[in-house]
Amino acid sequence: MNVSLTINGTGYERDVEPRTLLVDFLREEVGLTGTNVGCDTTQCGACTVHLDGAAVKSCTVLAVQAEGGSVTTIEGLGNGELHAMQQTFTEKHGLQCGFCTSGMIMTAVKLVESHPDIEEDDIRHGLEGNLCRCTGYENIVRAVAEGARRFDPHSPWEMEPAEHKITLREAERRARERSRA
Ligand code: FES
Ligand code: FES
Repeated sequence: MNVSLTINGTGYERDVEPRTLLVDFLREEVGLTGTNVGCDTTQCGACTVHLDGAAVKSCTVLAVQAEGGSVTTIEGLGNGELHAMQQTFTEKHGLQCGFCTSGMIMTAVKLVESHPDIEEDDIRHGLEGNLCRCTGYENIVRAVAEGARRFDPHSPWEMEPAEHKITLREAERRARERSRA
């Protein structure tokens, strides 16, 4: 079946089997491997992306169901820079192996967008559908809480002073420095 989607602002059209999952479309047809598959059974949330403005588990959606839709993946979240929620996961050490991280961040962004005054208990509740097998939940919750603090509903994700924004290249440089230390 022919499926056409907008992903991270770019249009894609592919001929796929009707049973193709959205996550497989993203990873195998388009090559966006930042969205992970942890379970394939709607348990872990590693595959979470935004579809038409909502966080969805992309192993639960057929690519054909997303026909004509607009998808944002972790690769497109910050438009080439680190999104504020990606920054706070870095700053608060909200990741260990990183396998759950893209799904956690995609869920967290929608959680905070809909509840800017979110409290810690609500964060824990809101992330229930995302599992971290490294069990790094304490720092993940801290990261989301800090992301929420920086969120301005009138100017989404623009509260960070420009000097605090870092490019992906700068983030990679800092990561290399940390690994050498
Ligand atoms: S891979 Fe989709 S919920 Fe686990
Ligand atoms: S950081 Fe390893 S699964 Fe969450």
